[in-house]
Amino acid sequence: MKPCCSHSGKSKKCIRKDGKVFSLPRRFTRKRCLQGVKGFSMRSSCAPYNQCGGKSGIKKAVAVFDMNGIKGTVYFTQKTNDQVLVDYNLEGLKPGFHGFHVHEYGDLTDGCESACAHFNPTGKQHGGRTGTERHAGDFGNIITSETGETKGSFSVKGVSLDYNNDKCIIGRSMIVHADRDDLGKGNNEESKKTGNAGKRLACAVIGLTR
Ligand code: CU
Ligand code: ZN
Repeated sequence: MKPCCSHSGKSKKCIRKDGKVFSLPRRFTRKRCLQGVKGFSMRSSCAPYNQCGGKSGIKKAVAVFDMNGIKGTVYFTQKTNDQVLVDYNLEGLKPGFHGFHVHEYGDLTDGCESACAHFNPTGKQHGGRTGTERHAGDFGNIITSETGETKGSFSVKGVSLDYNNDKCIIGRSMIVHADRDDLGKGNNEESKKTGNAGKRLACAVIGLTR
């Protein structure tokens, strides 16, 4: 991604392509801004960094589900270089655990099948949301309550919303499965590939948002 404006580390001015000049006090460092922005003064102080985009801009993405009676959204927020916060709110799933993964492609021409396998840029075996032996796209399970609510958030490492990062998940797809993901602990070959999460119930492309 090309930065939409230029600024130096020392200058407090940041000139956007459309000519708008940001010259707000920077009480917070870029690094601190990337960890999350809270409150007015921090928002102001961090604004030039966001507006300048580029590698370190705060980025957000969303996957909108509407398939086979499953509806809702999954939001992604870049927290650090290597960490993304995932916020999900879905309806239409049966109570219990459901495998939840980023699959390699955002290609849904053949339904969820053309999304292909789990996003695995480092050539690892299937695992859970944490640990070292896992696909980057392994987001573990999400849980649907007895009342049918599937809502929550978690943070996950090894993925990014930055185009320049080879672990970028923008343009790929999010899939929710019929069964519980065994997180690679199933003692069979399939467990090391898919976690035996079963049918692909619904899928959605991960796209940029504000
Ligand atoms: Cu999957
Ligand atoms: Zn996997």
